[in-house]
Amino acid sequence: MKLALRWQALLIGFLLGTSGAFAADNPIPSNHAVQLAQRPGHAGIASANALATEAGFEVLAKGGNAFDAAVAVASTLSIVEPESSGIGGGFMATMHIAASNRDVFVDAREMAPAAVDAKDYLNPDGTPNRDTSLKGPLSAGIPGEPAGLVWIAKHYGKLPLSASLAPAIRTARDGFKPDSRLLGSIQEEQKNLMRWPASAAKYLPDGKVPAAGDIWRDPDQAHTLELLAQYGDSGFYSGETAQKLVDAVNSAGGHWTLKDLASYRAKERTPIVVDYRGYKIITAPPPSSGGVAIAQILNILSGFDLSQMDKAHRVHLEIEAMRRAFRDHNDYLGDPDFVKMPLDMLLSPYYADGLRQSILPDKATPSSMLAPSSGQDPGMHTTHFSIIDADGNMVAITSTVNYVLGSTFVAQGTGVLLNDEMDDFALVPNKPNVYGLLGSKANAPEPGKRMLSSMSPSIVIGPDRTAVIGSPGGSTIITQVLEGILAFVDGGDAHQVAAHKRFHHQFMPDVVMVEPGVFDAATTDALTRMGYTFKDREPWGFMNVVIWDRRSNKLDAASDPRRADGLGKVQ
Ligand code: GLY
Repeated sequence: MKLALRWQALLIGFLLGTSGAFAADNPIPSNHAVQLAQRPGHAGIASANALATEAGFEVLAKGGNAFDAAVAVASTLSIVEPESSGIGGGFMATMHIAASNRDVFVDAREMAPAAVDAKDYLNPDGTPNRDTSLKGPLSAGIPGEPAGLVWIAKHYGKLPLSASLAPAIRTARDGFKPDSRLLGSIQEEQKNLMRWPASAAKYLPDGKVPAAGDIWRDPDQAHTLELLAQYGDSGFYSGETAQKLVDAVNSAGGHWTLKDLASYRAKERTPIVVDYRGYKIITAPPPSSGGVAIAQILNILSGFDLSQMDKAHRVHLEIEAMRRAFRDHNDYLGDPDFVKMPLDMLLSPYYADGLRQSILPDKATPSSMLAPSSGQDPGMHTTHFSIIDADGNMVAITSTVNYVLGSTFVAQGTGVLLNDEMDDFALVPNKPNVYGLLGSKANAPEPGKRMLSSMSPSIVIGPDRTAVIGSPGGSTIITQVLEGILAFVDGGDAHQVAAHKRFHHQFMPDVVMVEPGVFDAATTDALTRMGYTFKDREPWGFMNVVIWDRRSNKLDAASDPRRADGLGKVQ
């Protein structure tokens, strides 16, 4: 019935004709009136931690390219920002290869072990058991980040993996001063970390949270990274590390096998490409829901001239487009290797036209008129970094261990903090996960399946300016990146795009989540009269953006001003 209604929207759109344009094969737009630079000649990196940004520049200085720098940044974040990402987690990378003018997507998302059993995530009364899905070894998927780093270095880098991993290994061995965000995360998760001896030993030396200014060393993770540097995939997914991971997980109640690890592969997938007002947006395909949702929202919005609207009407249309895209997210999306998804329909401009017709000019559509409801506040972990190198290679990587400090479970002897990504499956159909996202059978856990993500690393190629953009933020990743893209299309520089105030609607709960101060009083009044309700929330992501203006051939890098620890730098 639901599918029939969606096809009806497609048919309505087709009959009405289309003003939006989905153009997967569109060439990069060019502006012939102005002489445009073909390569920047210098590089820009923006990440959530200054040590990671500097690690990227260190590898560039050794002759590496953006892809080598990406390996250096991601692996250093595994040491210095473990609350957000690491080699015990996974990532998604959207990349542009300058020499071949090719767009590539690398899926290094975690996957369920073969012995996954949905009953492990249920209480006896059938309600979701948030402890097993968010803490300890049962909550962890088989990590994807090590395989993803090896893949990127091997296929796109110029330097040996050992050179790109060197800054992370050195930082882990020599030590660094954890920033206040990491110390706060340890404080927040202290009780959980104490449940696992290796976690307590790593994060609570002497039984307490380290003090500000203490030097922190991570020799076990340094050793694990050295094995990865020396042996590539087999340095992590077989041999010593794999055995330690399996032993640690199983002795604490998990069900991993050596085969689960040995069978893990990073995968290249065709990125989602959407044309919005002459800007080519290259973004994440399933198993992320982010790119599909962003494309759907942009396709709906492309039928309106937002620049001619007052703020309240512009926001109204953006919320209604978000609402409709998130409804489809909940119903259809999952791991493309397991689920057949109607992507042609979801990405079609005709479908967007049909959805656009269902938006009332001055009135909110209650989500309950579109489907059933539930939900809770989205959380805020994960990390994103953006890189453009001197040759115009570009990398957008969003990387995660899911919730703060992932599962809080460190595998004894490896230094590897495992993710808690199993919660991103729809463990109980139509019951929200920790981000308030609903899911259906398409995202049910199955052996070897990758759980749906919201990660939306994106590259936006405009007529004369290009942006590499992304953010953490659970389900709000999608709308943060969307709003960042719109701010860039409106002419924003890297700082303005990263600082842009944010709002979010995810279909259910049927409320607009807002960053304090995002709307002035008149806009809030107008939206309230249209039927919207609002909920303040904090925090709002950690966007890292690099922009290349090809007219002036200037790079511009910015890290989200909401956070003190990031660094956007050009050199
Ligand atoms: N774990 C958050 C996400 O992948 O969306």
